Amino acid sequence: MPRTAIVSALHDELASVLELMPDEHKQVIGGREFWVGHLHGQDVVAVLSGIGKVAAATTATLLIQHFGVNRIVFTGVAGGLGAGVNVGDMVLARQFLQHDMDASPLFPRHEVPGYGRARFEADAALTDALELACDRMLHQLPQQLGAETAAAFGLQVPRLHQGLLISGDRFVATTAESQALQRELPEALAVEMEGAAFAQVCHDFGIPLAVVRTISDRADDAAHVDFPKFLREVASRYSGAVIESLFNH
Ligand code: ADE
Repeated sequence: MPRTAIVSALHDELASVLELMPDEHKQVIGGREFWVGHLHGQDVVAVLSGIGKVAAATTATLLIQHFGVNRIVFTGVAGGLGAGVNVGDMVLARQFLQHDMDASPLFPRHEVPGYGRARFEADAALTDALELACDRMLHQLPQQLGAETAAAFGLQVPRLHQGLLISGDRFVATTAESQALQRELPEALAVEMEGAAFAQVCHDFGIPLAVVRTISDRADDAAHVDFPKFLREVASRYSGAVIESLFNH
């Protein structure tokens, strides 16, 4: 039976996934807690990614080499960069790039040395399946969140965007930096701190990866205010709902 890794970025997100696993048991390796069990009868391992590219790469490697997962699904949050990518929307990654990779002048800016490329692809089939799961889930979201919470965050009907997700070891929390990223990488839809590291490791081992991120802030001067509140009240509910929708179909 194929084994799927479900990776969350936050404790609340992981908790909402563990609620869906009736028989999970914990294994601690490399200072991380891995939850092994089943979800709708399928073999899964759930784990927190840790924050940043190194933590993400270690987690991805352990999932593949120690737990033998055949595919990885990542749910988390990100700062919106693209025009119209608003708080509460979702971004499904089709491509990944490390925005802080810079070995110039030895290699072109953003190119990962040794790979001859800056961008890594998400797995098309797994990402298509995750897209359908997100669509189904977003239709039910207003009832799940309740009108009051949605209104408190000024949430519109959430939209699903697809395209380039960029990662780096920085929480982007100033308008100046967010504008600089937008100028440098106009196609980037959202910024976070782990996705592109997962993509590089999955590329190394030939393991399919799909990543979806809920937009928690606009990576601007207000990001540090929006972020914690959004996590507590909204983001935690997206993860479990998307995973439920992916597996129960
Ligand atoms: N994750 C969520 N918001 C983020 C931001 N503004 N920068 C980096 N990672 C994030």
